[in-house]
Amino acid sequence: MRIAMIGTGYVGLVSGACFADFGHQVCCIDKDSGKIDGLHAGRMPIWEPGLESLVKSNAERGRLTFTTDLPSGVADAEAIFIAVGTPARRGDGHADLSFVHAAVRELAKVIKPGTVVVTKSTVPVGTGDEIEKILKEEGVEGVSVASNPEFLREGAAIADFKHPDRIVVGAEDEHARDVLREIYRPLFLNRAPILFTGRRTAELTKYAANAFLAVKISFINEIANLCEAVDADVQDVARGIGLDNRIGPKFLHAGPGYGGSCFPKDTLALLQTADKVGVDQRIVRTTVAVNDDRKASMVDRVAAALGGELSGKRIGVLGLAFKPNTDDMRDAPSIPLVQSLVERGAEVAAFDPVAREQAERIFTDISFAADAAAAVAGADAVVIVTEWDEFRALDLEEMAGAMRGRALVDLRNVYDREEAERAGLTYFGVGRGRQG
Ligand code: UGA
Repeated sequence: MRIAMIGTGYVGLVSGACFADFGHQVCCIDKDSGKIDGLHAGRMPIWEPGLESLVKSNAERGRLTFTTDLPSGVADAEAIFIAVGTPARRGDGHADLSFVHAAVRELAKVIKPGTVVVTKSTVPVGTGDEIEKILKEEGVEGVSVASNPEFLREGAAIADFKHPDRIVVGAEDEHARDVLREIYRPLFLNRAPILFTGRRTAELTKYAANAFLAVKISFINEIANLCEAVDADVQDVARGIGLDNRIGPKFLHAGPGYGGSCFPKDTLALLQTADKVGVDQRIVRTTVAVNDDRKASMVDRVAAALGGELSGKRIGVLGLAFKPNTDDMRDAPSIPLVQSLVERGAEVAAFDPVAREQAERIFTDISFAADAAAAVAGADAVVIVTEWDEFRALDLEEMAGAMRGRALVDLRNVYDREEAERAGLTYFGVGRGRQG
């Protein structure tokens, strides 16, 4: 199949490279010439494990090309995927569709009948209808519009794309369904189920999935608070409930609250959609509030670990990205935490294996350490904010010896209290008994 992918962000670039790897002919299009020049030179605009070699090998075979010129990029395409950004609009949280609309208007000038336009970006219910309307206004006929939301996670994007739990295709005509079935045929070998739905249903499925996962995380975070008050262990509670197939073990890891480019934005956009049609979504609304409070309260945990006072204290922060294996800082729990630490008079030395460059744009009044050892040296408290693998096997004794104080605030429950205490540290986990 010949595929055009408009937008080379996370979803666009990963999907484009994986489609090419399936054997399709893919052209990735982006207005940002810096990104396209970089891709031609083998430089990735994002940090994602395995992406560089996947892009390079498919580009070398001629299956994956890049251009800033939309008309030539979509010229022969049987399917045109729209994977441009849909950021939360400032003020109301509604998904900003201006990039999607601009791409469709540009497409309208050159698109041929029989082509299938597919939204891959996360777009609110009814966006497919709007795209159809724009195309009609521009005099385009005989083009199908489908929705094919993407469920990949950052940091595991390629594996998720190639081994999805399911593929959701929302289409209103048989031709669109046939084209998308053909595009995903290589995945049927991996037994990935493909679910055909109406277009609006597919659009909503994406938001419902992200909102449900956000609910799971906020739920276990609240249970973690309860565990701390009644001397129970949230890790065991999560395991105990997760082994029930109806609940499932994933997304029950208590921590500093969810961040990233998706959950915070998509939960707000779902609420916007619900407001617009006058249907209250109390669970999602509460989830958003619980998560905001959670992120804001992490600084109090650090203060409590230091007897209540942060002024003049040195804090070593390990991990800044919103999760491991990414340099993405969007809505990262580290942001409110580090900012509050600084506001309350603490000195912060932070280390993140890859997010430093992104983080330097956000934090101007902290120091960035070259490695974990440098971040913890002389610290009164060390705070693990992101569970990078390299923070899972720290030499705790050495760390305790290098610190000024003894507090280890483990916001990801990477360590056990016993091992930390054996190393001479005072341990503060999340949802683990009275000392939390
Ligand atoms: C999320 C979804 O998992 C993907 O399925 C979806 O495609 C994607 O959003 C999207 O809409 O594009 P992502 O944001 O990359 O993926 O990262 P996750 O692994 O889902 O983590 C999100 C946040 O939840 C992180 O801050 C993570 O630390 C937190 N989290 C996750 C927890 O606090 N506990 C958990 O048990 C799991």
